[in-house]
Amino acid sequence: MHSEDMLKDEESLFTSPGILDIDYLPRLMPFREEQQKYLASIIERLPSLGTNILIHGPPGIGKTACIRWIFRELRESESSETVPILINCWKDTDLQKMVLSLCGQLGINTSYRNPDELFSLVIHMLKSFGSVVLAFDEIDRTSDQTFLYQFVEELPHKCLFLISTKRDWLARLDTRVRSRLIPEMIEFRPYDMEQTRRILEERKKHAFVQNVWERDAFEIVAAKCYGNGDIRTGLALLKASGLAAEHAASRKIKTEHVKEAIKKLDLKPSGQDIAPAGRKLTDFS
Ligand SMILES: Nc1ncnc2c1ncn2[C@@H]1O[C@H](COP(=O)(O)OP(=O)(O)O)[C@@H](O)[C@H]1O
Ligand SMILES: [Mg+2]
Repeated sequence: MHSEDMLKDEESLFTSPGILDIDYLPRLMPFREEQQKYLASIIERLPSLGTNILIHGPPGIGKTACIRWIFRELRESESSETVPILINCWKDTDLQKMVLSLCGQLGINTSYRNPDELFSLVIHMLKSFGSVVLAFDEIDRTSDQTFLYQFVEELPHKCLFLISTKRDWLARLDTRVRSRLIPEMIEFRPYDMEQTRRILEERKKHAFVQNVWERDAFEIVAAKCYGNGDIRTGLALLKASGLAAEHAASRKIKTEHVKEAIKKLDLKPSGQDIAPAGRKLTDFS
């Protein structure tokens, strides 16, 4: 390698690697503007008209990010008085854990109080707000759905956003709960190849020094991500490829670095993973 192609010790190919983090919430979410606008318009109708929504679609296509994006807007907006609350049902799998998480978000002191008292306090507080939107992310992960019944019973005029990877999740719900929820269905479709490329391009632009990516190398990342169906794969690959190039002291990120990253992340060779893979706890998060 010529010395001008070598990365010096103190140099980095990254400007803001944090932008490639799974939890980083981008300022712009290309190709989800329509859904964001629609969900925002539902929230605007509160408190007079509460609507429940079931958002469904495969993993890694911006469902959670979309909700977090709208909630950030709500918190930053001076005109809105709607209180946004997000519960991750994967972590908080039952009512007791959910109530503790809600207490945390609402600033309720949990010491010396039993679960029933805490639940009443949470409901009391939620009712006292003019309008509330409660999002239950990964709702299909919960073992128990009776909590939903309780929330729907106690908070009839609020918006509930339910997010699931499975569309048929609703059909398996207890009829008592289902008949009270009657959610509107919103489908999030997987991104096509061009959309995948543009989403990754946008994240890459802000995370790396300009022009360090060779075109072919980036194309492999985009194709691999599209084949996998999950944007997380692309983000993980961008990062791992950058690190592989840095490790080799290269000023450019080349196909060989991407290939090394693919191996490291244990991704299948192209073509074998066209169907979006089911997400496991260990998937890049
Ligand atoms: N349209 C988009 N623009 C920018 N980043 C996106 C977009 N869609 C998804 N992402 C990113 O992909 C990752 C996975 O998205 P996420 O919302 O967690 O997926 P899920 O549909 O599984 O909830 C996140 O890091 C998110 O920021
Ligand atoms: Mg999600």
